[in-house]
Amino acid sequence: MTLRVASALDLAKGVRSFELVRPDGAALPAFTPGSHVSVQTPSGAWRKYSLCNDPAERHHYVIAVKNEIGSQGGSRSMHEKLRVGDTLSVSEPANAFALVAKARAYIFIAGGIGITPILSMIRSFGELPPAPWKLHYLSRDPESTAFLDVLSHPALRPYVVVHHSSGDPAKSYDLWPALEKPNGAHVYCCGPRRLMEAVRDMTGHWSPANVHFESFTEGGGTKPDDRPFTVKLARSAKEFEIPVGKSILSVVREHGCHANWSCESGTCGTCRTGLLEGQADHRDMVLLPEEMESQIMICVSRAKSERLVIDL
Ligand code: FES
Repeated sequence: MTLRVASALDLAKGVRSFELVRPDGAALPAFTPGSHVSVQTPSGAWRKYSLCNDPAERHHYVIAVKNEIGSQGGSRSMHEKLRVGDTLSVSEPANAFALVAKARAYIFIAGGIGITPILSMIRSFGELPPAPWKLHYLSRDPESTAFLDVLSHPALRPYVVVHHSSGDPAKSYDLWPALEKPNGAHVYCCGPRRLMEAVRDMTGHWSPANVHFESFTEGGGTKPDDRPFTVKLARSAKEFEIPVGKSILSVVREHGCHANWSCESGTCGTCRTGLLEGQADHRDMVLLPEEMESQIMICVSRAKSERLVIDL
């Protein structure tokens, strides 16, 4: 779709929201809470952004973009180059972080800009939430906290805890009281990787079906000691080199081979693939410890050995 920027707003330090509409004013495709769209940024790079408005609204999509320091420039170009009235190529909405309709309760955990998909979930509840819910919203300081005004509304006070760490680990927020007892609730966590890993560690005794993660760090990011490695596809015997900075999934797709995928961030489970030989460097949020020897999430995970053979 080609959409026009109808308005733009500075929400917090380094966070800008954009309201996207059809140039002819027609209704947009419907979306469900937790959905995202892919946007071709002014730099030319495509980036995924969660929709943070109420899914009942059909006249606009609202995204919030963080100007990431050290990013490859996609989000930075949204801040520096995109103006009201400009048009952008935007995909139809997709959802790799869907809200379960019948939960006994919802526990939302957002870190920084990870609030965006969770905000659409909360907004979809309106005045009659389908189940009790609580939001734990963690950020560095008030100035960098997007939607603080919305979430500080007196009507939301019983449901929302906002915690600022000021960058001091000693002031980190203790999520254990919220996660200690699995009680049929569904946990939705979106934020920096270390927050998601902490939540994953604290929910080891929960049913995996009740714990959901979302992240847009495509390819899982790179680490300083990443090395290239080889992947062999067992079914076709094709073999590819996976360079630093590219995922197995992206290389496999570049060569026209079929693989299932959705989130590209190691959180949805769609790209789960059998691991037949080699030792994986697991970087996903999905696999259980007992699955790690025989399976791999090819959108983010890499190899500790020189070569992997996967069931593809
Ligand atoms: Fe979602 Fe890999 S595509 S985990």
